[in-house]
Amino acid sequence: MHAKMKAMEFTDKGNLQPVIRPVPEPQAGEMLIQVSAVGVMPTEKFWSTTSHYADGKVRTKAIPGHEFSGIVAGLGAGVTGYSLGDAVFGFNDWYAEGATAEFCITKPANLSLKPSSLSHIEAASVPISLLTAWQGLHVRAKLQKGERVLIHGGAGAVGLFAVQLAQSRGAYVIATSSKANIDFVKQLGADEVIDYRERRFEEAGKVDVIFDTVGGETLDRSWDLLKPSGRLVTIPEVESSTDPRLKSAFFIVEQDGEQLASLGQLFDSGELKTFVKAELPMEEADHAYSGSIVGNHGKLIIRTK
Ligand SMILES: NC(=O)c1ccc[n+]([C@@H]2O[C@H](COP(=O)([O-])OP(=O)(O)OC[C@H]3O[C@@H](n4cnc5c(N)ncnc54)[C@H](OP(=O)(O)O)[C@@H]3O)[C@@H](O)[C@H]2O)c1
Repeated sequence: MHAKMKAMEFTDKGNLQPVIRPVPEPQAGEMLIQVSAVGVMPTEKFWSTTSHYADGKVRTKAIPGHEFSGIVAGLGAGVTGYSLGDAVFGFNDWYAEGATAEFCITKPANLSLKPSSLSHIEAASVPISLLTAWQGLHVRAKLQKGERVLIHGGAGAVGLFAVQLAQSRGAYVIATSSKANIDFVKQLGADEVIDYRERRFEEAGKVDVIFDTVGGETLDRSWDLLKPSGRLVTIPEVESSTDPRLKSAFFIVEQDGEQLASLGQLFDSGELKTFVKAELPMEEADHAYSGSIVGNHGKLIIRTK
Protein backbone atom coordinates (compact mmCIF):
# COMPACT_ATOMS: atom_id res chain seq x y z
CA MET A 1 0.00 0.00 0.00
CA HIS A 2 1.48 3.32 -1.09
CA ALA A 3 1.84 6.02 1.60
CA LYS A 4 -0.32 9.08 0.94
CA MET A 5 0.28 12.78 1.50
CA LYS A 6 -1.67 16.01 1.58
CA ALA A 7 -0.92 18.53 -1.15
CA MET A 8 -2.49 21.51 -2.92
CA GLU A 9 -2.96 21.52 -6.70
CA PHE A 10 -4.06 24.11 -9.24
CA THR A 11 -7.58 23.84 -10.63
CA ASP A 12 -8.42 24.72 -14.25
CA LYS A 13 -9.43 28.17 -13.01
CA GLY A 14 -6.08 28.86 -11.33
CA ASN A 15 -7.35 28.33 -7.79
CA LEU A 16 -5.80 25.86 -5.40
CA GLN A 17 -7.61 22.82 -4.04
CA PRO A 18 -6.58 20.17 -1.51
CA VAL A 19 -5.70 16.74 -2.83
CA ILE A 20 -4.39 13.44 -1.50
CA ARG A 21 -1.56 11.97 -3.57
CA PRO A 22 0.90 9.12 -3.18
CA VAL A 23 4.14 10.14 -1.49
CA PRO A 24 6.54 10.35 -4.46
CA GLU A 25 9.43 7.90 -4.63
CA PRO A 26 12.91 9.28 -5.31
CA GLN A 27 14.41 7.82 -8.46
CA ALA A 28 18.15 7.50 -9.07
CA GLY A 29 19.82 10.86 -8.43
CA GLU A 30 16.76 12.29 -6.64
CA MET A 31 15.93 13.08 -3.03
CA LEU A 32 12.64 12.92 -1.14
CA ILE A 33 12.07 15.91 1.13
CA GLN A 34 9.59 16.11 3.97
CA VAL A 35 8.54 19.71 3.48
CA SER A 36 8.26 22.00 6.50
CA ALA A 37 7.63 25.30 4.74
CA VAL A 38 7.29 26.55 1.17
CA GLY A 39 7.55 29.99 -0.41
CA VAL A 40 4.61 31.56 -2.27
CA MET A 41 4.90 33.50 -5.53
CA PRO A 42 1.35 34.46 -6.54
CA THR A 43 2.53 34.89 -10.15
CA GLU A 44 3.19 31.13 -10.34
CA LYS A 45 -0.34 30.47 -11.57
CA PHE A 46 0.63 32.34 -14.76
CA TRP A 47 4.01 30.69 -15.33
CA SER A 48 4.31 28.65 -18.50
CA THR A 49 5.76 25.81 -16.39
CA THR A 50 2.44 25.64 -14.51
CA SER A 51 0.39 25.22 -17.67
CA HIS A 52 2.85 23.28 -19.85
CA TYR A 53 5.46 20.55 -19.59
CA ALA A 54 8.96 20.91 -21.02
CA ASP A 55 7.86 19.16 -24.21
CA GLY A 56 5.05 21.71 -24.74
CA LYS A 57 2.20 19.39 -23.71
CA VAL A 58 -0.56 20.93 -21.62
CA ARG A 59 -0.08 20.48 -17.89
CA THR A 60 -2.92 20.49 -15.35
CA LYS A 61 -3.17 20.06 -11.59
CA ALA A 62 0.39 21.25 -10.94
CA ILE A 63 1.47 21.49 -7.30
CA PRO A 64 2.90 25.00 -6.78
CA GLY A 65 5.74 26.31 -4.64
CA HIS A 66 9.23 25.77 -6.00
CA GLU A 67 11.32 26.82 -2.99
CA PHE A 68 11.14 25.01 0.32
CA SER A 69 12.77 24.11 3.58
CA GLY A 70 12.47 20.65 5.08
CA ILE A 71 14.09 17.37 6.08
CA VAL A 72 15.72 14.72 3.88
CA ALA A 73 13.33 11.75 4.00
CA GLY A 74 14.65 9.55 1.19
CA LEU A 75 17.69 9.18 -1.04
CA GLY A 76 17.56 7.76 -4.57
CA ALA A 77 20.36 5.54 -5.86
CA GLY A 78 23.64 7.36 -6.32
CA VAL A 79 22.86 10.38 -4.14
CA THR A 80 25.78 11.29 -1.90
CA GLY A 81 26.56 14.18 0.40
CA TYR A 82 23.26 14.11 2.31
CA SER A 83 21.85 11.86 5.03
CA LEU A 84 18.33 11.08 6.13
CA GLY A 85 17.22 13.71 8.65
CA ASP A 86 19.40 16.53 7.29
CA ALA A 87 17.68 19.93 7.39
CA VAL A 88 17.88 21.40 3.87
CA PHE A 89 16.49 24.26 1.80
CA GLY A 90 16.32 24.71 -1.93
CA PHE A 91 14.37 24.44 -5.15
CA ASN A 92 12.25 22.01 -7.12
CA ASP A 93 12.78 21.85 -10.88
CA TRP A 94 10.34 24.30 -12.49
CA TYR A 95 8.60 21.50 -14.43
CA ALA A 96 8.48 19.12 -11.45
CA GLU A 97 5.74 19.12 -8.83
CA GLY A 98 6.26 21.84 -6.24
CA ALA A 99 6.54 21.75 -2.49
CA THR A 100 3.04 22.79 -1.36
CA ALA A 101 2.73 19.24 -0.09
CA GLU A 102 3.91 17.12 2.79
CA PHE A 103 6.67 15.69 0.58
CA CYS A 104 8.42 16.69 -2.64
CA ILE A 105 11.17 15.45 -4.91
CA THR A 106 14.30 17.37 -5.80
CA LYS A 107 17.92 16.85 -6.82
CA PRO A 108 21.06 17.39 -4.74
CA ALA A 109 22.26 20.13 -7.11
CA ASN A 110 19.17 22.19 -6.27
CA LEU A 111 19.57 22.43 -2.52
CA SER A 112 21.91 22.98 0.39
CA LEU A 113 22.00 22.35 4.11
CA LYS A 114 19.75 24.87 5.86
CA PRO A 115 21.58 27.71 7.67
CA SER A 116 21.33 26.78 11.35
CA SER A 117 20.34 30.32 12.35
CA LEU A 118 17.18 30.20 10.22
CA SER A 119 13.95 28.42 11.09
CA HIS A 120 12.32 26.35 8.34
CA ILE A 121 9.81 29.18 7.84
CA GLU A 122 12.62 31.71 7.39
CA ALA A 123 14.72 29.41 5.19
CA ALA A 124 11.81 28.85 2.78
CA SER A 125 11.77 32.60 2.13
CA VAL A 126 15.28 32.57 0.72
CA PRO A 127 16.04 30.41 -2.35
CA ILE A 128 14.24 32.16 -5.23
CA SER A 129 14.50 35.73 -3.94
CA LEU A 130 18.12 35.62 -2.83
CA LEU A 131 19.46 33.79 -5.86
CA THR A 132 17.52 36.11 -8.18
CA ALA A 133 19.14 39.10 -6.49
CA TRP A 134 22.60 37.50 -6.52
CA GLN A 135 22.46 36.32 -10.12
CA GLY A 136 21.02 39.64 -11.33
CA LEU A 137 23.46 41.92 -9.53
CA HIS A 138 26.61 39.88 -9.53
CA VAL A 139 26.50 37.15 -12.18
CA ARG A 140 24.78 39.23 -14.88
CA ALA A 141 25.30 42.95 -14.12
CA LYS A 142 28.69 42.37 -12.43
CA LEU A 143 28.15 45.20 -9.99
CA GLN A 144 31.46 46.69 -8.79
CA LYS A 145 32.46 48.45 -5.60
CA GLY A 146 31.82 52.19 -5.87
CA GLU A 147 29.29 51.91 -8.72
CA ARG A 148 25.88 53.52 -8.50
CA VAL A 149 23.00 51.05 -8.58
CA LEU A 150 19.26 51.77 -8.78
CA ILE A 151 17.02 49.02 -7.37
CA HIS A 152 13.34 49.26 -8.28
CA GLY A 153 11.15 47.73 -5.57
CA GLY A 154 13.71 47.73 -2.74
CA ALA A 155 11.14 46.58 -0.16
CA GLY A 156 9.96 43.54 -2.15
CA ALA A 157 10.99 39.94 -1.53
CA VAL A 158 13.72 40.10 -4.19
CA GLY A 159 14.52 43.80 -3.75
CA LEU A 160 15.29 43.48 -0.05
CA PHE A 161 18.07 41.02 -0.85
CA ALA A 162 19.29 43.13 -3.79
CA VAL A 163 19.68 46.15 -1.50
CA GLN A 164 21.62 44.12 1.10
CA LEU A 165 23.90 42.50 -1.48
CA ALA A 166 24.60 45.78 -3.31
CA GLN A 167 25.41 47.50 -0.05
CA SER A 168 27.79 44.76 1.02
CA ARG A 169 29.54 44.96 -2.37
CA GLY A 170 30.31 48.60 -1.58
CA ALA A 171 28.06 50.13 -4.25
CA TYR A 172 26.18 53.41 -3.82
CA VAL A 173 22.63 52.09 -3.45
CA ILE A 174 19.55 54.01 -4.58
CA ALA A 175 16.23 52.17 -4.19
CA THR A 176 12.59 52.92 -4.86
CA SER A 177 9.77 52.02 -2.51
CA SER A 178 6.48 53.36 -1.24
CA LYS A 179 6.60 55.90 1.57
CA ALA A 180 5.79 53.40 4.30
CA ASN A 181 8.86 51.32 3.40
CA ILE A 182 11.49 54.04 3.17
CA ASP A 183 12.91 53.48 6.65
CA PHE A 184 12.94 49.70 6.17
CA VAL A 185 14.89 49.97 2.90
CA LYS A 186 17.35 52.43 4.46
CA GLN A 187 17.93 49.99 7.32
CA LEU A 188 18.75 47.32 4.74
CA GLY A 189 21.58 49.53 3.54
CA ALA A 190 20.23 51.86 0.85
CA ASP A 191 21.99 55.24 0.67
CA GLU A 192 18.93 56.90 -0.87
CA VAL A 193 15.31 55.78 -1.12
CA ILE A 194 12.90 57.40 -3.57
CA ASP A 195 9.18 57.21 -2.85
CA TYR A 196 8.02 56.20 -6.32
CA ARG A 197 4.56 57.65 -5.82
CA GLU A 198 5.82 61.10 -4.80
CA ARG A 199 8.97 61.55 -6.86
CA ARG A 200 10.24 60.53 -10.26
CA PHE A 201 13.07 58.05 -9.92
CA GLU A 202 14.86 59.89 -12.74
CA GLU A 203 15.98 62.26 -9.93
CA ALA A 204 18.52 59.57 -9.06
CA GLY A 205 20.64 60.69 -12.01
CA LYS A 206 22.85 58.42 -14.11
CA VAL A 207 23.66 54.99 -12.72
CA ASP A 208 25.92 52.06 -13.62
CA VAL A 209 23.42 49.30 -12.86
CA ILE A 210 19.62 49.08 -12.68
CA PHE A 211 17.98 46.08 -11.02
CA ASP A 212 14.29 46.17 -11.94
CA THR A 213 11.76 44.07 -10.02
CA VAL A 214 8.75 46.13 -11.19
CA GLY A 215 8.66 46.15 -15.01
CA GLY A 216 6.14 47.96 -17.22
CA GLU A 217 6.42 51.73 -17.34
CA THR A 218 9.11 51.66 -14.64
CA LEU A 219 11.27 49.54 -16.92
CA ASP A 220 10.51 51.64 -19.99
CA ARG A 221 11.60 54.83 -18.22
CA SER A 222 14.76 53.27 -16.83
CA TRP A 223 16.94 52.83 -19.92
CA ASP A 224 17.74 56.55 -20.20
CA LEU A 225 19.31 56.55 -16.75
CA LEU A 226 22.08 54.15 -17.69
CA LYS A 227 25.59 55.47 -18.17
CA PRO A 228 27.13 54.43 -21.54
CA SER A 229 28.71 51.40 -19.83
CA GLY A 230 25.56 50.76 -17.77
CA ARG A 231 23.82 47.39 -17.32
CA LEU A 232 20.12 46.73 -16.68
CA VAL A 233 18.57 43.52 -15.44
CA THR A 234 14.83 42.94 -15.13
CA ILE A 235 12.89 40.04 -13.65
CA PRO A 236 9.09 40.46 -14.03
CA GLU A 237 7.65 38.38 -16.84
CA VAL A 238 7.78 40.48 -20.01
CA GLU A 239 4.67 40.37 -22.19
CA SER A 240 5.56 39.95 -25.86
CA SER A 241 8.01 42.73 -26.62
CA THR A 242 10.14 43.53 -29.63
CA ASP A 243 12.63 45.65 -27.69
CA PRO A 244 15.97 43.93 -28.41
CA ARG A 245 17.46 45.25 -25.17
CA LEU A 246 15.08 43.03 -23.21
CA LYS A 247 16.62 39.89 -24.65
CA SER A 248 19.72 40.29 -22.55
CA ALA A 249 18.14 42.25 -19.67
CA PHE A 250 15.45 39.70 -18.67
CA PHE A 251 16.47 36.50 -16.95
CA ILE A 252 14.95 33.70 -14.93
CA VAL A 253 16.73 32.63 -11.78
CA GLU A 254 18.63 29.34 -12.05
CA GLN A 255 18.52 26.74 -9.31
CA ASP A 256 21.97 26.50 -7.82
CA GLY A 257 22.65 24.61 -4.60
CA GLU A 258 26.29 25.76 -4.46
CA GLN A 259 25.30 29.43 -4.55
CA LEU A 260 22.70 28.70 -1.91
CA ALA A 261 25.30 27.02 0.31
CA SER A 262 27.79 29.87 0.13
CA LEU A 263 25.20 32.63 0.45
CA GLY A 264 23.47 30.71 3.24
CA GLN A 265 26.53 31.21 5.43
CA LEU A 266 25.87 34.95 5.38
CA PHE A 267 22.74 34.39 7.48
CA ASP A 268 24.70 32.54 10.13
CA SER A 269 27.36 35.27 10.20
CA GLY A 270 24.70 37.97 10.49
CA GLU A 271 25.62 39.66 7.16
CA LEU A 272 22.25 38.90 5.54
CA LYS A 273 18.73 39.01 6.91
CA THR A 274 15.57 37.46 5.54
CA PHE A 275 12.02 38.60 6.20
CA VAL A 276 8.71 36.73 6.25
CA LYS A 277 5.60 38.63 5.25
CA ALA A 278 3.21 36.14 6.84
CA GLU A 279 2.87 32.40 7.35
CA LEU A 280 -0.28 30.46 6.58
CA PRO A 281 -1.29 26.79 6.94
CA MET A 282 -1.46 24.69 3.77
CA GLU A 283 -5.29 24.73 3.90
CA GLU A 284 -5.13 28.48 3.17
CA ALA A 285 -2.93 28.14 0.09
CA ASP A 286 -5.67 29.42 -2.23
CA HIS A 287 -5.89 32.60 -0.16
CA ALA A 288 -2.08 32.87 -0.14
CA TYR A 289 -1.97 32.72 -3.95
CA SER A 290 -4.66 35.38 -4.33
CA GLY A 291 -1.97 38.05 -4.05
CA SER A 292 -4.12 39.95 -1.57
CA ILE A 293 -2.35 39.07 1.68
CA VAL A 294 -0.92 42.05 3.48
CA GLY A 295 1.66 41.65 6.19
CA ASN A 296 5.22 42.51 7.04
CA HIS A 297 8.03 42.79 4.52
CA GLY A 298 9.32 39.78 2.69
CA LYS A 299 7.98 36.50 1.42
CA LEU A 300 4.69 34.82 2.12
CA ILE A 301 5.22 31.30 3.49
CA ILE A 302 2.97 28.26 3.75
CA ARG A 303 3.50 25.79 6.60
CA THR A 304 3.09 22.26 5.33
CA LYS A 305 3.09 20.45 8.68
N1 LIG B 1 12.63 36.25 -13.40
C1 LIG B 1 12.81 35.65 -12.22
O1 LIG B 1 13.63 34.74 -12.06
C2 LIG B 1 12.01 36.12 -11.04
C3 LIG B 1 12.38 35.70 -9.74
C4 LIG B 1 11.66 36.21 -8.66
C5 LIG B 1 10.61 37.11 -8.88
N2 LIG B 1 10.27 37.45 -10.15
C6 LIG B 1 9.21 38.45 -10.40
O2 LIG B 1 9.71 39.69 -9.91
C7 LIG B 1 8.64 40.48 -9.43
C8 LIG B 1 8.93 40.91 -8.00
O3 LIG B 1 8.94 39.78 -7.18
P1 LIG B 1 8.95 39.92 -5.58
O4 LIG B 1 8.84 38.52 -5.07
O5 LIG B 1 10.07 40.76 -5.13
O6 LIG B 1 7.55 40.70 -5.36
P2 LIG B 1 7.01 41.46 -4.08
O7 LIG B 1 7.58 40.91 -2.83
O8 LIG B 1 5.53 41.52 -4.25
O9 LIG B 1 7.60 42.92 -4.22
C9 LIG B 1 7.21 43.80 -5.22
C10 LIG B 1 7.61 45.20 -4.76
O10 LIG B 1 7.39 46.08 -5.87
C11 LIG B 1 7.22 47.36 -5.32
N3 LIG B 1 6.55 48.22 -6.30
C12 LIG B 1 5.33 48.12 -6.84
N4 LIG B 1 5.14 49.11 -7.75
C13 LIG B 1 6.31 49.81 -7.78
C14 LIG B 1 6.75 50.94 -8.51
N5 LIG B 1 5.99 51.52 -9.43
N6 LIG B 1 8.01 51.39 -8.30
C15 LIG B 1 8.81 50.80 -7.39
N7 LIG B 1 8.45 49.72 -6.66
C16 LIG B 1 7.20 49.25 -6.85
C17 LIG B 1 6.42 47.18 -4.05
O11 LIG B 1 6.97 48.13 -3.19
P3 LIG B 1 6.17 48.85 -2.01
O12 LIG B 1 5.68 47.70 -1.15
O13 LIG B 1 7.21 49.67 -1.33
O14 LIG B 1 5.06 49.61 -2.65
C18 LIG B 1 6.77 45.74 -3.62
O15 LIG B 1 7.55 45.74 -2.44
C19 LIG B 1 7.37 39.64 -9.61
O16 LIG B 1 6.78 39.97 -10.83
C20 LIG B 1 7.92 38.22 -9.68
O17 LIG B 1 7.05 37.35 -10.37
C21 LIG B 1 10.94 36.99 -11.22
